[in-house]
This record gives sequence, structure tokens and C-alpha cells, in this order.
Amino acid sequence: MRPEILNTRIFLDGADPEETRRVIKALGFLDGQTTNPSLLAKNPEAQSHKVDGNKFSAKAIYQFYEKLCQELSGLLPDGSVSIEVYADETTTVAAMLEQAREFDTWIKNAHIKLPTTTAGLEAANILTGEGRRVNMTLVFTQAQAAAVYAATKGAARGAVFLSPFVGRLDDRGENGMALIADILKLYAGGDRHVEVLTASVRSMEHFLCALAYGSDIITAPASILLEWVEAGMPIPGSTYVYEAPGLKPIPYEPLSLDAPYASYAIGHPLTDAGLAKFAADWNSLIDMAS
Ligand code: G3P
Repeated sequence: MRPEILNTRIFLDGADPEETRRVIKALGFLDGQTTNPSLLAKNPEAQSHKVDGNKFSAKAIYQFYEKLCQELSGLLPDGSVSIEVYADETTTVAAMLEQAREFDTWIKNAHIKLPTTTAGLEAANILTGEGRRVNMTLVFTQAQAAAVYAATKGAARGAVFLSPFVGRLDDRGENGMALIADILKLYAGGDRHVEVLTASVRSMEHFLCALAYGSDIITAPASILLEWVEAGMPIPGSTYVYEAPGLKPIPYEPLSLDAPYASYAIGHPLTDAGLAKFAADWNSLIDMAS
């Protein structure tokens, strides 16, 4: 059962419908699911396609992803399912738009995941202008958060998710949870049309801290959601203290939310590395000769 005082929406980060069923059963609710190419490559059925001679064709991988998203959407008819475009550093805005519009025909509750890059922001600007929903991924800075806000101005609340990757900042010694606090503070000065979706959650401490900070949404692996259930679904209040031993603080930057979206300095090495990894995981499933 959903705890009455829970204001944050809880998503599962994964790409295996069996796991989704298990999590819904254990929690008694689930508000949505986020997928990405790396999670897709870990799907049990996809695993068998990693072997030479049994790889997907460039077309068949989209059919597989479509079937998977339709199954997830059927399990979460009132929730949201994030579907990520294939993108590498050369992918054009037009190629992102083509995938996004196609994904929107697969299910009725899609959020289209786009990288927070120059091309991804331009695609988000166009797609939200068409009334579509987006989830901007691979976010590591407040400047990226401000650019997403500016690029999607005018979108309805619920149409835009922003996914800061906290675990990957921790990996390089920076306090990823501080970025969540900073972005929530930055957005508090806006119209709230962008919702903060805490992602790359690696521990129960990340999960509890995101609840305490008031993240709009958290996506977490099944293992963490099940651990939360085991612990009795605690919801810490504002007095919760997050220990970030050895992690460098990320100071708040008072950025404007009103500048033209292309004017923000959005480059970040983790965004570039994340894009390359997603592309490599997607390509590991494909017969490149097809
Ligand atoms: O939601 C994003 C997530 O799947 C990335 O997590 O652990 O690969 O940084 P991670």
C-alpha cells in the first residue's frame, strides 16, 4: 500500500517486466518505470541476443523495445514509462525527433528520454511544443537543469522530468545528493513545470535522502525498492541527516531560469561518457551488418 504521507512518486529503474511484477506485488503500488539502453541490454531475453549469430537487426531491436514498453505500460496503465532514444555524439535532432514520435505511438503513457546535450535540448524544445512528454537524462549540473527548464517553458506540469544521476557524481567523489538539493532550490524560483526525478540511485541512503529533500520522483533498482519495503517503507522528514563521507560538496549556483536555453554552458564529461556507454550497450545487441 502506498504510504499516505508519501508525496514523492516512486519509479522502478529496469527493463524486465517480471521484475516490475515483483516490485508492484511487494510495494502494493508503483508510479512508473524508467528504461535505458544499458538496462535493456540486461533484460533476460535480450541477453541471448548479445551472442554473435543471434544479434538483433537494426529494425528488430526497436520491435523488441516496443514489445517490452507495451508490456510495462500494461502493468502501469496509470503511470509513466520512460523510453530512451538511441543517441551518440553524432545523432542529429531530426533522428531524435523521428524516434521520439515513433515511441509515442507505442504506448499512451510514454516520457521520451533525451540526453541533456545541445541536440537533446533542441529536440525537447520541439517535442514539448508538440505537447509530448520528455525525460531529460544524464544531468550532472545546475546549468543543465536551468537549460532544460528554459527549453521546455510552457509545457504542462508532469510533461517534463529531469534526471540527475547522483551515483555517478558520487563515483567521482562529488556529493550527488547535493545536486538534487541545489536543483530543487533552483526550481523553487520557477513555475514548477519541470519535475526532478532522482536517478542513478545506488543505496538506501540515496533513496531516503531523496525522499527527505522532496524530490518529485525517484527511480531506483528493484533491490533498493524491495529493501525499502523490508524496512517498513520509512519516509524521513526534513530533519534527516545525509552522511556523505569523503564526498565533495556541490555549492549552489544562483542561475537565472529565464535565459535562452542555448546560452547555458551545458557540457559535462559525465554526460559525454554516459552517452557513449548507452550507445555501446545498445550496439552490443545489434548485428552491425544488418
Ligand atoms: O536511471 C539511471 C540509471 O539507470 C543509471 O544508473 O547506476 O548506471 O549510474 P547507474
